[in-house]
Amino acid sequence: MLERLDRIEKEATRELEVARDDEALQAWKVKHLGRSAELGTIFDGLRELDKDERRAVGKRVNEVKTSLEAAYQARLERLRQEGLDRSLREERLDVSLPGRPLPRGRLHPANQMLRQILTVWSEMGFQIYRSREVETDDYNFGLLNMPPHHPARDMWDTFFTTDPGVVLRTHTSPGQIHVMRERAPETIRVVLPGMCYRYEQITSRAEIQFNQVEGLAVGRTITLSDLKGTLNAFARRIFGEQVRTRFRADHFPFTEPSGEMDIECFLCGGEGCSVCKGTGWLEILGCGMVHPTVLTNGGYDPNEFNGFAFGLGPERVAMLKHRIEDIRYFWTNDMRFLEQF
Ligand code: PHE
Repeated sequence: MLERLDRIEKEATRELEVARDDEALQAWKVKHLGRSAELGTIFDGLRELDKDERRAVGKRVNEVKTSLEAAYQARLERLRQEGLDRSLREERLDVSLPGRPLPRGRLHPANQMLRQILTVWSEMGFQIYRSREVETDDYNFGLLNMPPHHPARDMWDTFFTTDPGVVLRTHTSPGQIHVMRERAPETIRVVLPGMCYRYEQITSRAEIQFNQVEGLAVGRTITLSDLKGTLNAFARRIFGEQVRTRFRADHFPFTEPSGEMDIECFLCGGEGCSVCKGTGWLEILGCGMVHPTVLTNGGYDPNEFNGFAFGLGPERVAMLKHRIEDIRYFWTNDMRFLEQF
């Protein structure tokens, strides 16, 4: 019996030495340490031996079992270590390889321009104020000195909603009333950026949706020179120190007097080209002194207060700066266009 145990130990040890992978190791464990291993049958047969023999064999069975278990653990450990060494040796990591580039987003060109314009105005002391895109008829027209059926309403082709008296704003000017009603009788210096909507034929120069930046200043001693000086300072910051501007008389129901500001065409330097249609000038905004009726509607006494207002189109400015020929590019999401910015 004891010889049999010696043989088991020797054989098992030899077999263990040639087990090269996990699978072989597991098979070995089942064969030599598992339920139906030879060692187990000897253990079960102990009962039939006489007392002395039983003690000797029992001791030896336990010894063999412990030694095989220890050998198994050692072998397992060694195979693990070898595997690790091999993978360190063979699967080398090249840390000098360039990484995979992450896709990087960027701001839409309309937003880039909008932010640049807002930065300039805030540096010049104007607060940024947002107001709603869905307006009542009254805010969009009535309170801006255009009562129902006023012919000037035709200047803005309007999207009406199914709610009577509710429209998509055609310009950011209704925001003037919101700010004044909130601030009266404080003085005001704000810009109001945002999307406007017009029910228009879409062409290379006109879209049904576009941004505007409204400006409003209300105080006690504001003059037309303040308006011109402020807008000139703005133009120089956006287009450069050398830019020339000109003001032309115009008409808006909510300003008096009203005007438009042109900048000298920087493509042709004022000589006349296709972009400025041969005039040498490009129109970028409408402006004027706030009409007394509008001041009253905003909660200010026009005998004590006055102010100026303007509305400019950032997409127009972006088109001029980047020589974009067609305003429709802004909202068609063509990656070939967007990726240029
Ligand atoms: N709201 C006018 C427009 O959409 C622009 C404007 C704003 C004119 C403020 C004068 C003063 O055309």
